[in-house]
Amino acid sequence: MREPVCDRQVREAQHRLDDLTHRVGLLAEQQPLVGETMQELSTALQELRVAADELQQQNEELAETRELVEEERRRYQELFDDAPDGYLVTDAEGTIQQANGVAASLLGVRRDFLVGKPFVVFVAREAQRAFGAYMARLHNGHPERVAEWQTTVQPRGGPSYPITLTTGRIRNRKGRLIGLRWMLRDSTERVRSEVARRQWEAQLQHTQRLESLGVLAGGIAHDFNNLLMGVLCSAELALLRLPQDAPARADVEQIVAATHRAAGLTGQMLAYSGRGTFQVQPILLSTLIREMEPLIRAALPKTCALEFDLGESLPAIEADATQLRQVLMNLVVNAGEAVGDAAGSIAVRVGVRECDRAYLAGGVLGNEIPEGPHVSLEVADTGCGMSGETQARMFEPFFTTKFTGRGLGLAAVLGIVRGHHGTILVTSEPGRGTRIEVLFPPTTQPAMAPQVPAPAPPAWRGEGTILVVDDEASIRAGASQVLEHAGFTVLTAADGHEAVAVFREHAETVRAVLLDLTMPNMDGATTARALRQIRPDVRVILSSGYTAEEATRQFTERDLAGFLQKPYALKALLAAVRGAMEPANR
Ligand SMILES: Nc1ncnc2c1ncn2[C@@H]1O[C@H](COP(=O)(O)OP(=O)(O)OP(=O)(O)O)[C@@H](O)[C@H]1O
Ligand SMILES: [Mg+2]
Repeated sequence: MREPVCDRQVREAQHRLDDLTHRVGLLAEQQPLVGETMQELSTALQELRVAADELQQQNEELAETRELVEEERRRYQELFDDAPDGYLVTDAEGTIQQANGVAASLLGVRRDFLVGKPFVVFVAREAQRAFGAYMARLHNGHPERVAEWQTTVQPRGGPSYPITLTTGRIRNRKGRLIGLRWMLRDSTERVRSEVARRQWEAQLQHTQRLESLGVLAGGIAHDFNNLLMGVLCSAELALLRLPQDAPARADVEQIVAATHRAAGLTGQMLAYSGRGTFQVQPILLSTLIREMEPLIRAALPKTCALEFDLGESLPAIEADATQLRQVLMNLVVNAGEAVGDAAGSIAVRVGVRECDRAYLAGGVLGNEIPEGPHVSLEVADTGCGMSGETQARMFEPFFTTKFTGRGLGLAAVLGIVRGHHGTILVTSEPGRGTRIEVLFPPTTQPAMAPQVPAPAPPAWRGEGTILVVDDEASIRAGASQVLEHAGFTVLTAADGHEAVAVFREHAETVRAVLLDLTMPNMDGATTARALRQIRPDVRVILSSGYTAEEATRQFTERDLAGFLQKPYALKALLAAVRGAMEPANR
């Protein structure tokens, strides 16, 4: 190490002092003053040496500190260069003074190219005005650190993309703004997931809206059914009482017909809400369709060719026959309306389809359906087809493109298929036609023939006592009148508790109980169990506007002597009562 300057100077002064001391040594005795001066000089020199030592030490400390500072600066530079985000330092006007590697690659240029350029030249043209306002805010506004801000950058030779900026101000000691620190982060992914999230939310809202529409439609339809019941009972009774030649007969017949049409509509709404009546049993689709052939033909325009392909020996499905008929009719009627009066054809096919995840993903009922073979019901037409817009909304309740349409057909199909754990696939092209495929999970159970009670002849008369249980007064009154007219004695009860009390008193004479399934306080299923405890062979005819699938499953075939779908016509009521009393006629 080189000898520090002050050390050397102190040493030279020492030499000169020694020399001087030696030379004046001889004079010292005669000149005491000189001797004293020399002594003082020597002391001063000593002090100087101590000061030089201290200085030396301070010097060393300073060198150490400088090394530490240098080390820190290097570390900061490395951090700056290797940071996962882009960093820029600009002057207060935004001219780049320093940039790290990530900033350079985010802006699509070499690092040295950035220095000296205004940052704004890398901002996409459409975002420059907003960027100017942002800079103004940095100059004037608070807070000190501007929260994250989105802009779009335009890198050299590449497409523009979104970026998140976080900016901090650099001030001098007097508080004047002298520069800006920028952090840049590519937010393409963030923006993309934000867009996906918004889409998902919109989808969810749409689904929730449809669900609440379903609840609403179901609720209204249920109440409506009860009212229709009252109208139907009274109108049919009036028909029974009116003489054959009464002029009012035609009017009352109109009422009955209109009530049936109204009941058809409430039936569609109930089906959509998933609360239509459910009597599930193993059914062969092909058999069911074969039985419906005349009905299908009658529903189609005469000019329309109809073709069936009802595959052989297919597995059965667990289904409600009435609802399956509703699905098929709604699809076929739509197909017929799509073909219209023009020449065209409709094909109804039933088969087995092996479905993998990819195939099922095209269905409207999502991914809850397991992979594997499914029974497929397909209705294809060569009609007008659908635009993408119509396809997106076709299953919405009340969505229609037809002048007199109600928009309930496909909504009902959707509700029913959902209730059967199936799904629906649609392919359609404007002007070319539509193919709608419904998939049902197969069952290994052997098929049973759907039960349809034989209608009782209107003149059929019975005798004995029947207990009518319903919370709706108009239904109790209507059913009582019909049954009394047919020769029965009728007892009524407004809920389950009353039914049990009345039944306990008349257990021996009651021949059958007409029981509503959905009642407050004590529902039909619980009431039926209580009645059976009093008399195990009680004959219960269940009636309901809707029942949840589980509710009907609480009954076994043996427990029920019949089922009546509300609103029921007089004939259906008599047929069910007759079926319950004379099982051979069921
Ligand atoms: N096979 C088809 N070809 C072309 N468009 C169809 C077909 N099926 C349904 N659509 C379109 O979907 C819409 C909704 O059908 P949906 O059956 O629910 O109601 P609707 O037929 O209009 O009325 P409703 O069936 O209640 O009388 C129709 O208005 C129509 O635009
Ligand atoms: Mg329709």
